[in-house]
Amino acid sequence: MTTRRKRLSAAALIFVASVLVFGVVLSRDAACPSMDATAIESAPAGVSTMQAARYHCYGDTDVIHWETVARPELSDSSVLVRVHAVATNPLDWHYMRGKPYIMRLSSGIGRPSDVRLGQDFAGVVEAVGANVTRFASGDSVFGASPGAFGEYIAVRENADIARVPDSMSLAEAAAMPVAATTALQAVRDAGQVTTGQRVLVNGASGGVGTYAVQIAKSLGAHVTGVSSARNVELVRSLGADATIDYTSEDFTTGTARYDVIIDNVGNHAPSVLRRVLAPAGRVVVVGGPERDRWFGPIRNLVGALVYGWFVEPTFTGLFSETSQVDLEYLAALVRLGRLHSVIDRQFEAPELREAIAYQESGRSRGKNIVIIP
Ligand SMILES: NC(=O)c1ccc[n+]([C@@H]2O[C@H](COP(=O)([O-])OP(=O)(O)OC[C@H]3O[C@@H](n4cnc5c(N)ncnc54)[C@H](OP(=O)(O)O)[C@@H]3O)[C@@H](O)[C@H]2O)c1
Repeated sequence: MTTRRKRLSAAALIFVASVLVFGVVLSRDAACPSMDATAIESAPAGVSTMQAARYHCYGDTDVIHWETVARPELSDSSVLVRVHAVATNPLDWHYMRGKPYIMRLSSGIGRPSDVRLGQDFAGVVEAVGANVTRFASGDSVFGASPGAFGEYIAVRENADIARVPDSMSLAEAAAMPVAATTALQAVRDAGQVTTGQRVLVNGASGGVGTYAVQIAKSLGAHVTGVSSARNVELVRSLGADATIDYTSEDFTTGTARYDVIIDNVGNHAPSVLRRVLAPAGRVVVVGGPERDRWFGPIRNLVGALVYGWFVEPTFTGLFSETSQVDLEYLAALVRLGRLHSVIDRQFEAPELREAIAYQESGRSRGKNIVIIP
């Protein structure tokens, strides 16, 4: 063997060994601390406290506990919200399990670095900081902020928070931030949907899909919603012009062509979606296989981005981000009567584990809400 070949073999071996070690480290779950230890850590003496959901290790829903913790502090530029309703998202069980493993690079290796759970909240402003001008005590607000599963949340007035439209309940408002923002950014921004376009929403009956159908309709599109037979009526009631039952028909083998495909499911390869795309049509990949333990839906999102860079520039993967501007846009659509939340199940706070397990089942029809008393 030549010296060069030996060096290459050694480098390849080191690379493979490094990947294996990296994989083992990333997928290792640290043991759960005893509940006594966590309760002492999270209930400091002499400060105002509240009940909030915490998880100190990765695992099944039994890693989630309601604990007595310090109330968030109010800064000069923030508002303190008494939370009344919180929506679940697939993100919650991904954080709870620390899966896909790749997300542990930010959520914590071995155990969660942020023990709070939940994003989407709605409630009533209890107090405002000295410099706050946009909100006042007593305002009904909704928004997105880490640690929403708790009695109180403090949010900067310029962050992801907006007023609840009068026509909406707090539960309906809590349903919107992550799912409706994702739908909005998929349909309006990445999909660039315009009047008269033919839009297909794959996964039209879930949290993102129920909003995507309505937003595409509000932009004047002809919408086809793909769902199972049990959800066809729901999708029609949201304004879809046509529906496809995925259990009896594969939309990628039909003759219809679409200007925009919003894919919340990720069960078709980009090259397959391309077959039913109109000339210059766009594909926005939003979701993917939730059970892929290494990369989860990220695999499809990145796959679509790469496909867009190298093969077909009209393909993209969406990584949505909540913003105050978009929350206000969504609230405006609600006020115009063009958008509403579909609530599947409503849970009480002690049923939080059941709520997250139901979300994880992948069978939600719209959104699920946890009521915080
Ligand atoms: N990219 C981002 O920034 C972003 C943001 C939020 C969410 N996501 C991802 O987007 C995806 C959707 O999120 P979500 O909140 O809408 O999830 P969800 O509420 O759990 O979606 C569940 C829905 O998916 C439907 N469904 C399952 N398999 C289907 C199939 N083969 N064809 C059509 N519909 C199917 C189910 O209907 P049936 O019960 O009738 O099958 C159910 O109504 C997830 O992968 C999530 O991780 C991405």
